This record gives sequence, C-alpha cells and structure tokens, in this order.
Amino acid sequence: MDRIPLVHASLGEQELAAVAEVFASGWPAGQGPKGKALETELARRYGVGGAVALSNCGAALHLAMLALGVRPGDEVIVADFSFPAPAHAVRYVGAVPVFADVRRETGTVDPAAVADLVGPRTVGVIAVDTVGLPADYAELKAITDRYGLWLVEDAACAVGATYRGVEAGSLAPVACLSFHGRKGASSGEGGALLTADPALAADARIRSSFGIGSIFDQAQVVGLPIPVFTEIGFNYKLSDIAAAILLVQLERIGELLDRRSAVAARYAELLADEELVTLPRVPADRTHAWQTYMVTLDPGVDRAAVATELRAQGIGAGHGTWASHLQPVFESKQSCPVSADLFRRNLAIPMHAELSTNQVERVVEVLRPALRTHARPGRNQEGAA
Ligand SMILES: Cc1ncc(COP(=O)(O)O)c(C=O)c1O
Repeated sequence: MDRIPLVHASLGEQELAAVAEVFASGWPAGQGPKGKALETELARRYGVGGAVALSNCGAALHLAMLALGVRPGDEVIVADFSFPAPAHAVRYVGAVPVFADVRRETGTVDPAAVADLVGPRTVGVIAVDTVGLPADYAELKAITDRYGLWLVEDAACAVGATYRGVEAGSLAPVACLSFHGRKGASSGEGGALLTADPALAADARIRSSFGIGSIFDQAQVVGLPIPVFTEIGFNYKLSDIAAAILLVQLERIGELLDRRSAVAARYAELLADEELVTLPRVPADRTHAWQTYMVTLDPGVDRAAVATELRAQGIGAGHGTWASHLQPVFESKQSCPVSADLFRRNLAIPMHAELSTNQVERVVEVLRPALRTHARPGRNQEGAA
C-alpha cells in the first residue's frame, strides 16, 4: 500500500551539504556564523530592524511577552482556534489569556470579538495566521491603535503567505515564526522573532542565551572578557546546524510553496462538488501558506470514523487544530462557539510539497465514499453550533 503521510518535510541533498559545512567549521552551537547569517537574511527578507533566530516559535512568543513587558495579572487577547502556543506564552509570564472567537470562513481571529474583549487589564493581542492563512491585520491594527495595545503576529504556520501584498511575518510590529518539521520552511525544530524595533530584538536575543551575549563572539576578541549574568535568561538559541538548514530552506520557499499551492488547487477542483465538506476559503486580499489543508465536515458526518478509514488505507488524517479555550489547562469559562464548532468538525488531509498528483487523487477517491458511509441520515437537520 502506498502510504500518504499527512506531513512530510522537504529536506534533501542541499540541506545535507549545508550541514556538512557546519560540521567542518567546528561551531555547531548557536549564535555562530550561520545563526548570524540567518538573522541577517531574515531581517532582509522581512524588511525588519531585528530578527532573532530561536529554538522554536514557543520560545519566540515567550520572549515577545517578556520584551513587551507583560506582567502577572495582565490580560492578553489570543486567537482561540490555534495550536495553543500563544496562550501558553501568556501563562509563562503569569498573565491571563483571553480567548477571542474566529471567523467561520477563515478560522482567523474575529476583530469584532477582539474589540468586545478589550478591558481595563488588556495589554495586547496575539493574532494567529491560522494554519497558514493571515488574519485581518488592517482591522486588528485599527483596534489595537484605538486602545493603545500592542499587536503580535503568530506567523508560525505562515512562512510565504501574504496579506495585501505584504508577507506574513511583517504584518505586525512583532512576529513569531516556526520552523518545525511541519512548516513550509523547516529545520526540524526552529523559530524566529521578527520586529521593527532593534531594542526589542536585542532584549529577546540576550534573554535567549541565559542573559549573556554570543559565546562565539566572545571567543573572537583579544583578551579575556568574562560575561556577567545580570538577569535570569533561557537557552532558546537555535543551533548553527539548524540555521544552515534554514538558509537553504528560505531560498527554496517559493518552489516549495508553489508545490503546496498546486496540491491545494487540485483538492479544491476534485472536491468542488462534494456537498459533505466545506473547503478552505482564501479571501482575495491574501494568500495561504498551506501548512495544513483542513476541510470542514458536514455536521452529520462522523469525523472519527472517516479519519479511521483514511488511516486504515494508509492516508494520514488529523483533526486540524485546537479550540484553545476548551483545553483543560487554561480553566477558561469563556465560550468561542465558532472555534469550538471548527474544532469538532474539521479534518486535515495530507498536505506537503512532496505529494504527487496521483496521491492527491487517491486521497479524494478514499475520502468521498468514506464521507457517504459515515454520514448519518437526516444530517442536514443537525445545525452547527
Ligand atoms: C500558531 C502556532 N503558534 C506556535 C506554534 C509553536 O511552534 P513551535 O513548535 O515552533 O514552538 C505552533 C505549532 O504548530 C502553531 O501552530
């Protein structure tokens, strides 16, 4: 049986050659020549004053909260329908995540919901480019400007996407990227913080290395500089091995994204007349990075049974992403009905740059009858929440 995985990172000979170079250099650790080259390239690509290479996007979000001065008891409004990394980051600094519901058509945070949640303790908003689709930044900025709040873009899934011609990662004054194995550009694990403000970048960089500067840099100076620890930091550095891989991946991002986009276009053609699914919609003012291809199943379809059938036939399937407020760790009493409904009904099907046209066709050939087999009679009467 031809297995068709949900996820497959596009890492090959070019990346191996870049890693071999790092091995030969003798500096595999972080904040070395490759890490610096990556930061320079990220700053150039995104046209920002500061880019910090980090171990993952969760670390970038954490450092963003610290650099923005979020304090215990502050409230931060976060997009609900997402891998809950933004809410985790808010909790790392003792603040309170306030969950904002999303737009049904895009799954991105609903600016009206954000505006309704602003209160006396609100300090900022973390918007998410949901599985690769940018949120409504013009409307979000209008709200954060009106109330004097900061805005962070969680572009973890969105490398290569655009909103009104501007690349995801440059859509808010602070943005966080992920280079996890599932993302459009990957080094296995990895992340970055991008910001227009060089002081904020410097704050994040120093905290990412236990509060002291680059050990590589210190080794280059004549004399014996002894770093002084003046605050509690973390080890959130990206290794130079990962940075070397990412320098290659960023060069390939156009080609890899074209391949993902072709897969999405083929799914859209093949499923256009399928009444048991709603396909992802991309508004005219933005483009998708297609980290994930999620369809929303008709309310009468048994999603677990469909996914089980796909998996039994060697086809990867998943639930997509999460309704954050429903995760027990946050003990939230809020209600985000659209997010909860998408969390219940969405199905992720294989999406990556290595999928062949035949494989995409096979996914649909298995999916269509599975939907029929597992649709309860009278399904159309069951309303979505
Ligand atoms: C929206 C979002 N933010 C943050 C993260 C965390 O990224 P990382 O695994 O690089 O920490 C993810 C992971 O999928 C994500 O989807």
